[in-house]
Formats: sequence, C-alpha cells, structure tokens
Amino acid sequence: MANRKYIVGNWKMNGLRAQLSDIADIAALAETHEGVDVAICPPVTLIAQAAENTQGFKIGAQDCHFAISGAHTGCLSAEMIREAGATLTILGHSERRTDQHETDAEVKAKAQAAHSAGLGAIICVGETEQERDAGKAIDIVCGQLAGSFPEGADADWLTIAYEPVWAIGTGRVPEVSDVEEMHAAIRSQLAQLMGDGAGAVRILYGGSMNGSNAAQLLAVANVDGGLVGGASLTAEKFGPIIKAAAEA
Ligand code: PGA
Repeated sequence: MANRKYIVGNWKMNGLRAQLSDIADIAALAETHEGVDVAICPPVTLIAQAAENTQGFKIGAQDCHFAISGAHTGCLSAEMIREAGATLTILGHSERRTDQHETDAEVKAKAQAAHSAGLGAIICVGETEQERDAGKAIDIVCGQLAGSFPEGADADWLTIAYEPVWAIGTGRVPEVSDVEEMHAAIRSQLAQLMGDGAGAVRILYGGSMNGSNAAQLLAVANVDGGLVGGASLTAEKFGPIIKAAAEA
C-alpha cells in the first residue's frame, strides 16, 4: 500500500517575523487538503510563534545538537526545539554536511537525540554531481544512509529525504528513471537496516521540486513526498505542490 504523502518546506536561512503570515497561509491551505501531511521548517527564531499561530500544523527545525545540554555555544538541543513547539527536525542536509562538515555519525547521533526528545527526524542523503558522473551515486547514498541510520528507528518518527546535491536550488531535476532507481535502492537499504518496517518509512525527493514538476516526481514509485526549499516560501508557490501530493 502506498504511504500517505508528506510535503515538507525547508525555509533554510529565510524568514523574518513578517513571513509568519506566509506560514499561517500555508497551514490554512494544508488544512483544505486532507490526504497529505504538510510541515514547514522555518528558521529557529520563528518556530515558537509559528507553532502558536498554527495549532495542529507541523512546524519543524532544520537541525539540532546531539547532546542534551552543555558547553556548545550557539547550538540548540532537541529538547529546546521541542519546547519551542517544533514536532520534527531536518537532519544532515547537504548544506550542513558541507558548511558545518557534519558526518554520518553526527547525523545518526542527532537523530537519536531528536527521537529521545519526541521529535520526528528527516535524514537527508544525496550525491554530488561528480559522484553521479563517476557512477557512484547509489553507493554514496546507501553508504550515507547506513552511516546515519539511528538504531531502533521506525516509520513513526523517521523519514528519509533523497536530495541530489546538484539539484538543490539549481532548477535541475534528475531523470524520472534515476529518481525511481535511487528510491528503490534506498528502500532496499532500509529493508536491510530495519527489516519489515522499511516499507512504511517515507522517502521524500528534494531538489528543485516546484509546482510544475511535483506531480511527475510524486508519481514515481517509492517517492512518498517532497522536501522543498525555494518553492515552499509562499502559499502561492507551495500550494500547487501540496495539491499535487493530495492528488497523487
Ligand atoms: P530547493 O531546496 O527546493 O530550493 O532545491 C531543497 C532542499 O535543499 O531541501
């Protein structure tokens, strides 16, 4: 049976208080599409107010620390994020793996911390263009998944996002056949890691998803939703993706 679709907006380092109204608009829109789960992950500074303004709508973070507390200047624990009103967090996004040199082991520890604090976790994996050109995409992605996979994970709190690095923010998307091949590989890697529960874990596609290509991407086998950056910033742009997911 197909999984219920999950569409997550990753706002990255975008959004001031003036944009809280966009989150409210998106939450209202999501409410009119019953067959799909929708979340927005704004900057941490907006989480508490966004959660208060949109009761019942999923608000998430974009990272958390793996420690419960301590001497980690500038960092936020999963518990702090949960207390602010988030119910999930993105982890191991390629921008963090590059800019903050996050390793698979750190992502795994962060996922365990997120789960302990009661947060859902979306673990991101994806190859660079060089790795794809070298024919290593599947090995790289499955390796990242195995290295980042938290012990005892299940579909109730774990989601995977496949995001080819070269497709993020570039307007380029992989061929449908490549998306299908990669999502099938991720599904079988999940089956090796967790057995029977693997079928229920949602695998999102991310990288230049927009209102024009969402329906096609969401129709691919094992694509259970999308992680959306640029096209998630307003209800006008995000709406067609939510609609496509509801109809997929
Ligand atoms: P994009 O970003 O939709 O702007 O390509 C996706 C992501 O990085 O999560």
